[in-house]
Amino acid sequence: MKKVEFENVQNIIANQLKKGAFLNTKVDGKSNTMTIAWGNSGRMWDRDCFSVAVRHSRHTFDLMEQSQYFVVSIPKLNTLKKELAFCGTVSGRDKDKFKEANITQQILEDFDVPGIEECELNIVCKIAYKQSMEPSLILSDYVKKKYQTNDYHTIYYGEVVAVYEN
Ligand SMILES: Cc1cc2nc3c(=O)[nH]c(=O)nc-3n(C[C@H](O)[C@H](O)[C@H](O)COP(=O)(O)O)c2cc1C
Repeated sequence: MKKVEFENVQNIIANQLKKGAFLNTKVDGKSNTMTIAWGNSGRMWDRDCFSVAVRHSRHTFDLMEQSQYFVVSIPKLNTLKKELAFCGTVSGRDKDKFKEANITQQILEDFDVPGIEECELNIVCKIAYKQSMEPSLILSDYVKKKYQTNDYHTIYYGEVVAVYEN
């Protein structure tokens, strides 16, 4: 594992995120992960920033609300498909997904939230800002269709504090 610059791994993130990545949290000593495919990797407030969108029905939402940090783990292109499908359909409320999906928590120096050993990149983010979606501000019918059950996202903007490559 080595530390790399966020700006040097943008292509890896762009190519794999749409196919799936993992969003890891840890609260009260217990880790969880869920699959994500929506997010933004860029710049905000003069800092490197990664934002993730978490629907309010997710166990991860409850955990994010109690967190200061999260980790996004990016698989090597087109790998871990079974694991992504599992972690994107099963809830950490019911199962220890690391154990059941057979993926390995990876300690990232002094950070509490783990990365995933089988992933190419582990991106440690400190939550700088969060915003729950305001339904009246959705301007596009296409986006409205994504919320037919009123299960809105909160978007968490994480300042990227470290990126590790395996
Ligand atoms: C490919 C894929 C991408 C997903 N992307 C997101 C996402 O960006 N945001 C979200 O809230 N849920 C997303 N999900 C759904 C969650 O991963 C899923 O509901 C998961 O079981 C939640 O786990 P949790 O209850 O342990 O948080 C995605 C699922 C899949 C299969």
